[in-house]
Amino acid sequence: MSARGLLVSIAGTFALVSIATAQTANLAEVMRAILLPNSNVIFAAQHEDFAAVTPDPDPSLATDPFKGVYSGWQAVDNAGIALVEATRLLTVPGRLCSNGKQVPVREAEFLKMVDDLRSAGLAASSAARSQNHERILDAAEKVSAACSRCHLRYREKGGEENRCAAISPPGAAPAPAARTSPRPAPRSAVRR
Ligand code: HEC
Repeated sequence: MSARGLLVSIAGTFALVSIATAQTANLAEVMRAILLPNSNVIFAAQHEDFAAVTPDPDPSLATDPFKGVYSGWQAVDNAGIALVEATRLLTVPGRLCSNGKQVPVREAEFLKMVDDLRSAGLAASSAARSQNHERILDAAEKVSAACSRCHLRYREKGGEENRCAAISPPGAAPAPAARTSPRPAPRSAVRR
C-alpha cells in the first residue's frame, strides 16, 4: 500500500471509530424518537378497526404508518421490530441521560427491564404476524407494563436529578456524605 493509501485508510478507520463512539442523543431523546411513536402504533392496534383508515393520498409520504405503504398489521409488526431493535440502543455504553448521568447499562435490574421490553416487542410482532386481535391486546399490555415499570424505577423515583441513578432500597444505609477534606490527587490515574 502506498503511504497515501495508508494515510487514507488510517483516516477512514478513525472516522469509523468516531462515528461508532459518538453519542449524539441522550436516553430521553431515544425514547421520544423511537420508543414513543412505535409503541403508539401498537397501542392503537388495540382498537378493532385500527386498519380501517383511508390511506394517505401519497402513501409513500405518509407520516401515520397506518396510512402508509406498510399499513395494517404490517405497521404493527414493524413497530414491534422497532422496539426490539431499539433495546440495543438503550444499552450502548457511554450514552447519557438528560441530567448528565450515565445510562445504567451495567445494572442487572435495568438490563432486565430492557429485556422485558424486548420480549414485549417480540410479542407484538408475533401477534401482528398472526393477525390475532386477542394476542395484540396481550402484547400491548406487555409493552405498556414494560415502559411503566422502568419509568417508575429509573425515571420517576427521586426527581429529575435522580433519573437513571441507582436508588437504594428503602431501609438501606444512606449514601456516604461527600468528603470535605482535600484529597491528594490519585497519582496512578495521572501517570497512566
Ligand atoms: C429500561 C428502562 C426503560 C424502558 C423499558 C422504557 N423507558 Fe422511557 N425512559 C427511561 C428513562 C430512564 C427515562 C429518562 C431518560 C432521560 O432523562 O434521559 C425515560 C424517558 C422517556 C421519555 C422522555 C420523557 C421526557 O423527559 O420527555 C419518553 C417519551 C419515554 N421514556 C417513553 C417510553 C416508552 C413509550 C417506553 C415503552 C415502549 C419506554 N419509554 C420504555 C427508561 C425506560
